[in-house]
Amino acid sequence: MQNEIALDKIRLRTFPDPILRKRSGEVEVTQQVKEAVKRMAGIMYANNGIGLAAPQIGVNLRMFLVDTGDGLIEFINPTIVPLKSRMTKMEEGCLSVPGVGVEVRRIDKIKVSACDSSGRPFVREFSGLKARAIQHENDHLDGKLIIDYLNPLSRIVVEGKFRRGGKKQKKTCEVACYDGEGRTRRS
Ligand code: NI
Repeated sequence: MQNEIALDKIRLRTFPDPILRKRSGEVEVTQQVKEAVKRMAGIMYANNGIGLAAPQIGVNLRMFLVDTGDGLIEFINPTIVPLKSRMTKMEEGCLSVPGVGVEVRRIDKIKVSACDSSGRPFVREFSGLKARAIQHENDHLDGKLIIDYLNPLSRIVVEGKFRRGGKKQKKTCEVACYDGEGRTRRS
């Protein structure tokens, strides 16, 4: 398994870029992968996101980052198992679908197996906003976007606006925004 990453083509991708709809492949951690992760973190923080997935920067590999205010967590080749818990609803944003907020129902607690960019494996449980952000980012690895959670009619309307280029590139954030002081906000 070899990952070829065009580092010079790394930039934030927005719908309807076809890269966002592809299923991403397993990652073999290389120097190039580490460099891509570093750039992904830079783009995430520059845009006040609490997460970012590799397809969003044009890299179809199974990896994403999450930082809800208490430090960066790298997820490479993640596997998510839902834990017995309640479903919660929250309006989510996405840097790849600017200006759109979609209420998404997700499970509150999950167990994740993954490794970090040094290739160290870990298994951890997450709940609340972190669990939500992880599920949102993991959707990106399967080509799924928040607009897929809209009812069919709203989805046609929103997608149509993007395809016609009529949707204003309003400032947005990933899942929710991070203000650098441990609080999250939407802007
Ligand atoms: Ni997103």
